[in-house]
Formats: sequence, C-alpha cells, structure tokens
Amino acid sequence: MASFAFSESSAMLLLLVLVTYLAVATSAANFYQDVDVTWGDQRGKILNGGQLLTLSLDKFSGSGFQSKNEYLFARIDMQLKLVPGNSAGTVTTFYLSSQGPGHDEIDFEFLGNSSGNPYTVHTNVYAQGKGNKEQQFHLWFDPTAAFHTYSIVWNPQRIIFLVDNSPIRVFQNSEAIGVPFPKTQPMRVYSSLWNADDWATQGGRVKTDWTKAPFTASYRNYNANGCVKSSAGSSCASTNSVNDQAWQTQELDSAGRNRLRWVESKFMIYNYCTDLKRFPQVLTLPSDQAWQTQELDSAGRNRLRWVESKFMIYNYCTDLKQFPQGLPAECKRS
Ligand SMILES: *[C@@H]1O[C@H](CO)[C@@H](O)[C@H](O)[C@H]1NC(C)=O
Repeated sequence: MASFAFSESSAMLLLLVLVTYLAVATSAANFYQDVDVTWGDQRGKILNGGQLLTLSLDKFSGSGFQSKNEYLFARIDMQLKLVPGNSAGTVTTFYLSSQGPGHDEIDFEFLGNSSGNPYTVHTNVYAQGKGNKEQQFHLWFDPTAAFHTYSIVWNPQRIIFLVDNSPIRVFQNSEAIGVPFPKTQPMRVYSSLWNADDWATQGGRVKTDWTKAPFTASYRNYNANGCVKSSAGSSCASTNSVNDQAWQTQELDSAGRNRLRWVESKFMIYNYCTDLKRFPQVLTLPSDQAWQTQELDSAGRNRLRWVESKFMIYNYCTDLKQFPQGLPAECKRS
C-alpha cells in the first residue's frame, strides 16, 4: 500500500510538473513579467492577470510603458486595438529606442483621426540621432474594431515593418553607401498614448475633442524574440518558449515582395524617398551623371590648344614676373 501510494503521488507530481511546464511553454507573454508602466499615474493598467494592457489619455496626461529588457536585434510583435471613434489629435505608439545622444529608433506611430476617417500609420527609422526617413500608410482594415498584430523585425541586414504579418516597409542596411544603420546601441520597446493635436491629425487642423476623453488603446500578446543585453553580456531568446530564430536573417521572399508592392501602391500615402520638395538639392540631380567623371577626349584637347594659342590673353602659369621664385607646381603639369 505504502509503495503504491508513493508511486501514485510521484506520478501526480510528475503530471503537475508536466502541466506547469506546458502551461509556461504555451502561455502568451505576461505584461507583469515583460514591461513596466512608466508614466501616466493610474492611466496605464495591466489587466487579466497580465494578458492585457490598456493605456489611456485625458486632458491632464497620457501614459506609457517600456520593456524590462533591452535588445540588440530582435523581432517584436504586439497586438494593438487603437482608440475608437473620434481619435483625432491622439497618437498611439509602439517603437524601439536606444537611450542617450545619437540615439537609434524604429517607430510605429498611429495618428488618430476624426470619426469615419482613417488612421495614419507613421513609420520612421533613426540612426545615430538622424531620422527624416518617414513613410506613412493607411490600413486595409479598421484598427479600432479588433486587435491586429504589428511587428518590427530588426536584424543586421534590414528592418522590416509588418502588419498582420504583411510587410509594409523594408529598410535595408545601406552602410555600404554611407547611410548609418542602427546596429550597436541596444534598444528597449516603448509604447505610449499621448496628445499631439498640434500636428497629428490632418496636419494639426483637427484638434482633440476632450469631451470624448478618456481615450483608451489596448495591447496584448507582446512577444519579443531577440538578443537581450545585460551586464552579463547578450543572450538570444524569446519571451515565449518557441525560440524561433528565423528573424535573425529574415528577408522578403517573392510573395512578400508582391505583398509589399500591393501595400505601397494602394496604402502608402507618404514616402520621404519621393519627396522632391523636401530634398530638392539631392533629388534634382540631372539624370545624366557623365559630368561626375568628365575629362577631355582628343578632340577636346585639340580645341583647347586652338583656344589657348589664338585667344588666351593672360596665363598666370607663364607669368615669371609674378612668380620670380618659380611657377606654381600645377603649372608644370601640362
Ligand atoms: C485623416 O483622414 C484624412 C481624410 O481621409 C486623411 O487624408 C488623413 O491621412 C487621415 N489621417 C490623419 C492622421 O490625418
């Protein structure tokens, strides 16, 4: 009897351990474990045992949270349900940022709108303190009606912005042509809901309607697959135990490229790369770039000799009176 009781209870214990393990392995991330609500007093709330987080904004303050971990390269997924109804003037954010001067940043910002008008998804990348790389989109669904997944894939080759797993933007590492890329400063995940009615909605013309406050945005299923920086060094892992490393080299396949083209053609509303008004001196370069390496061919050299012999009336390179100690060095070259 005693041995039977023993084996039964150890079997129970084993089952309990197994059930606990499975529960951990399959549970969604827990906001209590993963983030700190950092500002907004009681306006940022973790609910449902850590499964849900809400941020709110009223006339006095917005609110925000940040990840406990810092990452040097990661894939971060977050589900968001944005402020419904008249969200004009409000901005909901989900971004990565390093700290200190010359900071790096990868942004998703959701600019609210008056009822019935579409949200604008604003994206940007900062490297070493320099941004100015905005692209903006409308969405192909109502982002206030249900949760949708917004993801940032950040690996050494590129940054991919995804909405419900559909790429909306790829920012390639172009260091080879002198464009800084975020790759040395660890970044934390940040989210906030705040008032920006001086610029956010229809260029700042539509203001926040405070009679509709408080405004609330909801977050769930935070998942960070990344390389965590700590004083002990860096280790790559996931907040859920499905440790998928595909993000480390993730790029678009042909289906992804087609999907990106579809998003760009139907939903992109602003692209800094085509903003000639904003970057006139860079983008109005003549398409003919021959001048960049232009030199004289033999016909040109003949013509030059003809001009010099017939029409030149002064040349410092033959003015020995001006240079009694000797002609300048460049004069001896031709
Ligand atoms: C708001 O709606 C207008 C009109 O549809 C649109 O042009 C604009 O991009 C929308 N978003 C914002 C943030 O103003």
